[in-house]
Amino acid sequence: MKIFLDSASLTEIREALSWGAIDGVTTNPSLVAKEKKDFFPLLKEICEAVHGPVSMETISRDAPGMIQEGRVFSQLHSGIVVKCPLTKEGLKATRQLSSEHIRVNVTLCFSPSQALLAAKAGAHYISPFVGRLDDLSSDGMQLIRDIKTIYSNYPFSTQILVASIRHPLHVVEAARLGADVATMPFSVLEALIKHPLTDAGLERFLKDWEKLPLEIKRIQTPNRAAGVS
Ligand code: E4P
Repeated sequence: MKIFLDSASLTEIREALSWGAIDGVTTNPSLVAKEKKDFFPLLKEICEAVHGPVSMETISRDAPGMIQEGRVFSQLHSGIVVKCPLTKEGLKATRQLSSEHIRVNVTLCFSPSQALLAAKAGAHYISPFVGRLDDLSSDGMQLIRDIKTIYSNYPFSTQILVASIRHPLHVVEAARLGADVATMPFSVLEALIKHPLTDAGLERFLKDWEKLPLEIKRIQTPNRAAGVS
């Protein structure tokens, strides 16, 4: 499963890239607004840092506007994926942009029927929002199961991008279900690394090491003179 960072913060993106942890980035208008930076230069800088897919959302409500924005976004960088909402207008835009070989991430998906239509319109990614469903006492991961079943019944090439992830279990469950991608905020990515037993184990190892006399714990470089290369 690929991991995307759901963020428009260059600091977070660069840090996550340094861990070798992310394959791409997703943004949305709320995340971009939080950065309070000039939109296009920011987007370009993100694309240049990531070397992978970067989703950017259209802000028009009608298909002609989305198509126009999508074309402009896609010319900015080859990594751009255009996000269109799961509305009638969004589907029209998806169909048109896909026919122009522009990758579309259909976003704000909350039902299996919506996901089916996005695939038929030619979406490259479908983004079901699991956390926002959980927030309303619906089972977000059940939506992933349903989409997975529907997509595997037919020769669709649309990838399932699990979005609105709130905690590590969402990520683990997405991987168990065979989702193609999970996109998550920086806090969740960090939480994936953490385990109290790792921290406690490392503390104990290093304390035991400290107890050794200095002479025997000196780390030596290999002896080239002895023929070790
Ligand atoms: C995905 O592309 C969305 O930007 C994101 O996952 C939404 O998450 P939220 O429900 O936490 O805002």
